[in-house]
Amino acid sequence: MDRTPIKKALDADRIGQTVTVAGWVRTARHSKGGFSFLSLNDGSCFALLQIVADRTLANYEREILHLSAGCSIVATGELVASEGKGQAVEMQAKEIRVLGEVDAETYPVQAKRHTFEFLRTQAHLRTRTNTFGAVARVRNRICAAIHEFFQRRGFLYIHTPIITSSDCEGAGEQFGVSTLDPAAPPRDENGQVDFSQDFFGRRTYLTVSGQLAVEPYCCSLGDVYTFGPTFRAENSNTPRHLAEFWMVEPELAFADLNDDADLAEEFLKYVFSTVLNDGEEDLNFFNEHIDKTILETLRHIHESEFVRLTYTEAMDVLETAERDWDYPPKWGADLQTEHERYLTEETFQKPVIVTDYPASIKPFYMYVNEPDERGRRTVRAMDVLVPKIGEIIGGSQREHRLEVLESRMDECGLNKDDYWWYLDLRRHGSIPHAGFGLGLERCVQFCTGMANIRDVIPYPRTPRNAEF
Ligand code: 4AD
Ligand code: MG
Repeated sequence: MDRTPIKKALDADRIGQTVTVAGWVRTARHSKGGFSFLSLNDGSCFALLQIVADRTLANYEREILHLSAGCSIVATGELVASEGKGQAVEMQAKEIRVLGEVDAETYPVQAKRHTFEFLRTQAHLRTRTNTFGAVARVRNRICAAIHEFFQRRGFLYIHTPIITSSDCEGAGEQFGVSTLDPAAPPRDENGQVDFSQDFFGRRTYLTVSGQLAVEPYCCSLGDVYTFGPTFRAENSNTPRHLAEFWMVEPELAFADLNDDADLAEEFLKYVFSTVLNDGEEDLNFFNEHIDKTILETLRHIHESEFVRLTYTEAMDVLETAERDWDYPPKWGADLQTEHERYLTEETFQKPVIVTDYPASIKPFYMYVNEPDERGRRTVRAMDVLVPKIGEIIGGSQREHRLEVLESRMDECGLNKDDYWWYLDLRRHGSIPHAGFGLGLERCVQFCTGMANIRDVIPYPRTPRNAEF
């Protein structure tokens, strides 16, 4: 079909042209004098095209008069200057073809306001609402910006596997992948499930991170990144956790933690400013209806220099803060979201990069620092914290010294034989390298102000929820 996207039809230069548009009716008003005003959306932009139809159309009484929200139509007509407020252009219809009617009684996403909780039960039709259309467009722009940023800097895009046999983060939060009969799996002599008879001849999982698999590419080809879905079976019912989420993971060759932090800062600024520049219409909507500080926050971040401090310095700030914590801060314990948000929202009021966390709370692969003057051991980890979200990026310099890595693996109770190929990178031509992971959905939340992560991914996967 030779159709003009509404985004283009609304361009004032087109006034006088006859075009065909197609989409879904958002609102229909039928007036007594034989006129109908239809507002149409086709997803190409936030705005609606107003279509004026009158009874001179052959199917006016039979079809057009019965149109309501949700109907799909194809309309051909002249684009004319609009007298109505809010839009410069409207269409004077010459022909309207009705493709799909709706049952107005049962159509779940009428033009009235619905709660996001309700719309989650209608994930297949919430895409027809202002909010979810705007989220989808912003998410798309962010993904394109991510690739632009890395491609322009010469990073290679590497596709790492989704099925894996290693646990990158070592947190044991993996979903198993198996074709064994769960009711009657084969058993070994000790009565344990015998995964050597499973599809891959070993125990396998959905990946929690592409990092381990991308490192060999970094240690051969230089700067690389992977970008794909990752899975975590953590039972956290929070507005910031999903069981399936997308992660971008660059890996920098011949680099240390400072290089990593510089990259993370430039990267976030690029993504945020691209969304600001290109997503104006959608962002204006979020700023008006979802979070009145979104535009200001995005602009502010672009202009500010991220604060960098160590975990130990962050602990000093937190321990002297006058605050009733749910979890009182204590050296050695992980930062809670309340601590992260305090640092970025109250103490510094801008993004904060916390580095050098205690070794005991971080995965095996992070570079081990010399013990501090009190003998405490930290690793070259970094978390980037932003207002309202807390941790948006987690990363580190990698341990590239074979003996240190081996002893960390022993400490963490890992079987070194399972990671022989990862250790090989440290045996043959080892180099300092570093990388990080950005949670795509947390980034979309940050750019849109959407409070719940379930509303920035098309079909959220959370505990007890995988309907669509
Ligand atoms: O801090 P994480 O666990 O780091 C890694 O996985 C490293 N292997 C990354 C690397 O160095 N290549 O996760 C990275 C980011 C977090 O900062 C957060 O934004 C996001 O992934 N994330 C989640 N997003 C949604 N739901 C979850 N359950 C998430 N867990 C982590
Ligand atoms: Mg983390």
